[in-house]
Amino acid sequence: MNNAPIGVFDSGLGGLTAVRELRNVLPNENIIYFGDTGRVPYGTRSNSTIKRYAMQDAKFLLKHKVKMIIAACGTVSSVATNLKNDLPVPYTGVVSPTCFAAAKATKNKKIGVIGTSATIHSHSYRDMLKKFDSDIEVIEQDCPLFVPLVESGFIDKDDEVVRLVIERYMNHIKGAGVDTVILGCTHYPIIKEAISCVMGEEVTLIDSGKETAIYAAKILKENNLLTGRTYKGESEFYVSDTPDGFESVAGVFLGENVSHSVEQINIELY
Ligand code: DGL
Repeated sequence: MNNAPIGVFDSGLGGLTAVRELRNVLPNENIIYFGDTGRVPYGTRSNSTIKRYAMQDAKFLLKHKVKMIIAACGTVSSVATNLKNDLPVPYTGVVSPTCFAAAKATKNKKIGVIGTSATIHSHSYRDMLKKFDSDIEVIEQDCPLFVPLVESGFIDKDDEVVRLVIERYMNHIKGAGVDTVILGCTHYPIIKEAISCVMGEEVTLIDSGKETAIYAAKILKENNLLTGRTYKGESEFYVSDTPDGFESVAGVFLGENVSHSVEQINIELY
């Protein structure tokens, strides 16, 4: 049993979709969230920069004595693959749990993967899916406009702009006849409904934040690290840019009204 908080980080606010699921799966746990809003997006940066940023983010969380670290970011999980070996606490990214769920879900063994450019160019999801089942055919597509779309509040499935952008990226994957699509970036669950409208209801969308929260709960249980608390846990939020407007945007990602305080920190100190 361990009452220390779980540390979660992302390049920005997308990782809050994982926090939402974590709170469903493990309601009594405390959570420390860091969103690197001053340096988002990571998905267009070089591998060495993404690795350096990820290490700083993890160090910030370790300062808060977290018992586990979750990189709730497809980009970090795909590029900073050595992070796990450099940390003194259990760690997970989103790639492995998400691929596990997708490999289980597909019936026709054709899976689409969408993510940031860094994620797609790393082929992290493709390689992991092939490890689970080498017969799976993987169709990859980077969607660089999705993150700015979400961050700018273009999330409504009935919005023509949203539909057109999604169609532009997804047509190639749709044409390949996939029955499952991995939302390989933690921002994408926010436009899940809109993606589903384009892909069709019969296509299963796998939410990386959700699958990772389920996997994190498993790791904590196996390591006897679950809290003994019997009441609802609390969440603390930290960002690296001004926290102005955090509450309304975070509310969209968390799926609830946010009344928590948020603090700005200098991530370059870590
Ligand atoms: N949330 C990040 C991810 O899952 C995307 C945002 C970014 O490019 O930094 O990849």
